[in-house]
Amino acid sequence: MNVTRFSDLIAAGRVRGQRVFIRADLNVPQDDDGRITEDTRVRASVPCIQMALDAGAAVMVTSHLGRPTEGAFKPEDSLAPVAKRLGELLGREVPLVANWVDGVTVAPGQVVLLENCRVNKGEKKNDEALARKMAALCDVFVHDAFGTAHRAEASTYGIAQYAKVACAGPLLAAEIDAVTKALAQPRRPLVAIVAGSKVSTKLTILQSLASKVDGLVVGGGIANTFMLAAGLPIGKSLVEADLVNDAKAVIDAMKARGAEVPIPVDVVVAKEFKADATATVKAATDVAADDLILDIGPKTAAILADKLKAAGTIVWNGPVGVFEFDAFSKGTEAIARAVAASSAFSIAGGGDTLAAIAKYGIEQQVGYISTGGGAFLEVLEGKTLPAFEILSRRANG
Ligand code: 3PG
Repeated sequence: MNVTRFSDLIAAGRVRGQRVFIRADLNVPQDDDGRITEDTRVRASVPCIQMALDAGAAVMVTSHLGRPTEGAFKPEDSLAPVAKRLGELLGREVPLVANWVDGVTVAPGQVVLLENCRVNKGEKKNDEALARKMAALCDVFVHDAFGTAHRAEASTYGIAQYAKVACAGPLLAAEIDAVTKALAQPRRPLVAIVAGSKVSTKLTILQSLASKVDGLVVGGGIANTFMLAAGLPIGKSLVEADLVNDAKAVIDAMKARGAEVPIPVDVVVAKEFKADATATVKAATDVAADDLILDIGPKTAAILADKLKAAGTIVWNGPVGVFEFDAFSKGTEAIARAVAASSAFSIAGGGDTLAAIAKYGIEQQVGYISTGGGAFLEVLEGKTLPAFEILSRRANG
């Protein structure tokens, strides 16, 4: 994708002494006391900020946090915990600035964090007046918020339209590169793992991938609907019977291209959804009326692991079983270990997938771990995200 990169502007000497506005995604989970429980996104935002500081820019950073009501700031909407964490990571104090839309005082070599941008009136609807005011704060706008790249809001889209210069930060650029490598120019075979509780939430992803991938591994509740479509019994497992025809259509579309949707040959079942429920391995044809399928079985795991090891590219979204319960975690662990052992370029994204990657400690063996939740899913759906669209428009005109 042809976008201007922040690193190119720095290399061209176009950042020194300039006012740089970085839109990051610092939307991190917090506990009831406001403590950050997972700081990946804060850590991922550091390289861009450090680059800007090293280049001698006056740096403003902002992000949304949660989904606050515009114009009605509440203490829990504050980015204060993020400012503190960012300060620790950068090794310097990061002042937090409120009410910043009409002007920000910051000197070259300094960084300030601008309070939750979603509290500004007009942010969500990409209000033009608000976007123009934000654009007027800076010489260079840097979009580095992949997690919010699927939103066209004033601080992600409008500002990119009106800023003197708009470019992609290193995190956004790395995500673009990884997605392009995985989906636009994949080394084949390209195998996608799409798992999760419901077909309905991922149907468009399955349909989009069905025209691109060589193997489409389905897991979790999604696999149950595909098993039903393949004429297998699924007992009282989570299923969306009304989507069986859609699942069949995906299977047929894949078959017509000489590609496949591997259907489980064995599964792990229980009589109740409980961490300490008795786990029983059964052939996929033997699932009883009162069984709940909670994981893929060992034969299926071995078949899928072989496919993943032989893949050229792997795209992974979703655990294939209830991996939070140890008795039903072996399928997801086998997938994780196969992704790690494969020489394929792998890209993974989505909250549950990241939790599985962390649980099995395979972070270093995954080619690229996306910071996007909804944004990653929209990429898999084949959509052009607003961030990429506007940045490439600005780069080309
Ligand atoms: C996310 O957490 O997926 C991003 O920060 C986007 O948040 P949003 O869904 O509230 O826009």
